[in-house]
Amino acid sequence: MRLLAGTLALILLCSCSSDAADAPPPVTYAEKDRPAEAKRLLTGRDWYRHAVFYEVNIRSFQDADGDGIGDLKGLISRLDDLQALGVDALWLMPMYPTPFVDSGYDIADYRDINRDYGALADFDELLSKAHARGIRVMVDLVLNHTSDQHAWFTESRSSKTNPKADWYIWRDTPGDPNIGCGTVNDTFGKDAWKLDPTRNQYYFHRFYAGQPDLNYRNPEVVQATLDVAKFWLDRGVDGFRCDVIALLYESKDGCDFIPETQEYIRKLRALLDGYPDRVMVAESTDYSGSSAYYGTGKDMFHMAFNFQYGYLWGLPFAGNAAKNVARPFEDSAKKNPEGAQDGLVIGSHDVNRAFVAAREIESRWLRAAFVQLTMPGTPYIYYGEELALRPGTQVVVDGRDSARTPMLWSKAAGFGFTTGKPWIAFGAEPEKTNLEVEKADPKSTYSFYRKLLSVRRGREAFGGGALQILAADDPTVLFYTRASSDETYVMVVGMDEDDGHTATVAGANLPGDGQLLFGEGALVREGSAAKVTIPAAGTAIFRVR
Ligand code: GLC
Ligand code: MG
Repeated sequence: MRLLAGTLALILLCSCSSDAADAPPPVTYAEKDRPAEAKRLLTGRDWYRHAVFYEVNIRSFQDADGDGIGDLKGLISRLDDLQALGVDALWLMPMYPTPFVDSGYDIADYRDINRDYGALADFDELLSKAHARGIRVMVDLVLNHTSDQHAWFTESRSSKTNPKADWYIWRDTPGDPNIGCGTVNDTFGKDAWKLDPTRNQYYFHRFYAGQPDLNYRNPEVVQATLDVAKFWLDRGVDGFRCDVIALLYESKDGCDFIPETQEYIRKLRALLDGYPDRVMVAESTDYSGSSAYYGTGKDMFHMAFNFQYGYLWGLPFAGNAAKNVARPFEDSAKKNPEGAQDGLVIGSHDVNRAFVAAREIESRWLRAAFVQLTMPGTPYIYYGEELALRPGTQVVVDGRDSARTPMLWSKAAGFGFTTGKPWIAFGAEPEKTNLEVEKADPKSTYSFYRKLLSVRRGREAFGGGALQILAADDPTVLFYTRASSDETYVMVVGMDEDDGHTATVAGANLPGDGQLLFGEGALVREGSAAKVTIPAAGTAIFRVR
C-alpha cells in the first residue's frame, strides 16, 4: 500500500516535471491603461479606424411609446446597453419620412424624421445623448433616388415643363441606349422604366418603381443633394453611410462608379472635410473588392464595405481551408491605397442573418465575427448579431425582412422591445436569444462578443496595425498577426470543426512568447518558428509583445 502510494507520487511528480519541461514559461506583458488608450484612439481625425460601429434598424430596436414600432426615444433608452457592449458609433438606417416601399430607402423628405420614429427634436436629443457617452452617430445618405412621394418628384412628374422637369430621368419610350443598365437584382423586379400617366412619359428607376432615380446630369440636383448632406452635417451628425453611391450617374457603357460619379464623390468629400472629424463609408457595389472607393486615399471614402468577406464568408467557413478566409484581406492589403480602411460586416439589413449564413452552426458565426473583429478594417455589427438573432418569417416589405425583426432585450412579454404588438413578428427562438438570457450565460454569443470587444478596446494594433498572414504547415489553421509600434498580437482560428490541431508556422519570428488573452489554445516559440495548438473550430488571441 505504502509502496503503491509512493510509486503513484513518483509517477505524478515525473509527469508533472516532464509537462513543465514542455510548457512555455508563463508570460504576462505589462498592461497599459486601456480606457485611457481607448479615449486617445477614439479622439481626433482617425477615430473611425479604432471605433466599433453598430448598424441600427430604428424600427426594430426599441419601442418607447407602445405602438409596436421602434423609435428614437427607444434607441436613446438603449444607449447604455450599447455602451456596455463596447459600441463607439452608430449607423442609423434611414429615419426619414417614407411610404416604406423599400423600408425607408425611399425617402419622401430628406430633412425630417419619420413620425413613427419621432421628430427632429428627438434626433437632436439622440445626438447629444450619444455624444455625451462618446458614441458617434452616422446617418444613411440615400442619394441615388428619392421616393415617388418626394416633393421633387411630385413636381417633376406634373408636366414636361415645370422647374424640376429634368430632376429625374424621363423618356418617351421605356429604355435608352445611353443608359446601359437595368435593375440591380430580382428583389426589385426587372423593369427599370415606369410610365407616369400624368406626364405621359417613362421614368428610370434602378430599384422599386417607388424609387425614381435622380438625374445627376442636372447641376441643380447635384447642388440640392449636397445641400442635404450639409443639412445633417450642420445638425451635428458624425458622417454618412452612402447608399449605392456608385450608381448616381448612368452612361452608355455602364452605370457603376463611372468618372462622373467619382467626381460627385470628391465634391461630397470636400464638403465633409469642411467639418472636423466627419467620415463617410461607401456601400460598395463591387463584391470583388472596395479599393476603387478610396480614390487617392484622401479624396473619396474613409471606409468602404468589403463584401467579398462580409457577404460571402459563409462559403469559406463551410470548408476548412484557412486560405479561403484570408483571401479577401490579402486582396485588400494588396489593392487598397495607403490609408484606406475597409468596413467589415458579417451581415446587414440586406442579407440573411449570420445565423443563416453559418448554416446554424454556432462556431461558424462566432469565428466569422472573430475574423471581422480582428482583421484590418472597422467592424460594423448589425444589431442582433451579438445575440445570434434568428431569422423571422413574416414579410411586410420583402424577403429581406427575415433579418429585420425586433431586437430582444428581456424574457418579459414583448421581449422588452414593445408593450404593444410588434410591427413584424419576432425571429425564431426569442426565449433563447434575448439579452437578459445571454448576458447571464458565459457561453452565449453575447458573452463572446462582449469579451472580444473588451480585449480589442484600447489596443491600437487592431484599429491600425499592420497585418501579416502566415501559412501554417496545416492548411486548416489560420494564423495572422497585427502589430502596432509597440505591441503585437497573434490570432489563430481552427477551421476544422471536428478536431483540434497542432501546427507549426515556419518563419513566424515572434518577438516574444504568447500570452493568451482570448479563447483557447497554446502558442510556443521554437526558434524562428511558432507552434500553435487550437481546439476544433477554436479561436484564440495571444499577445507576443
Ligand atoms: C442599398 C440598401 C438597400 C436598398 C437599396 C436601395 O443597397 O442597403 O436596403 O434597398 O440600397 O436604396
Ligand atoms: Mg414606437
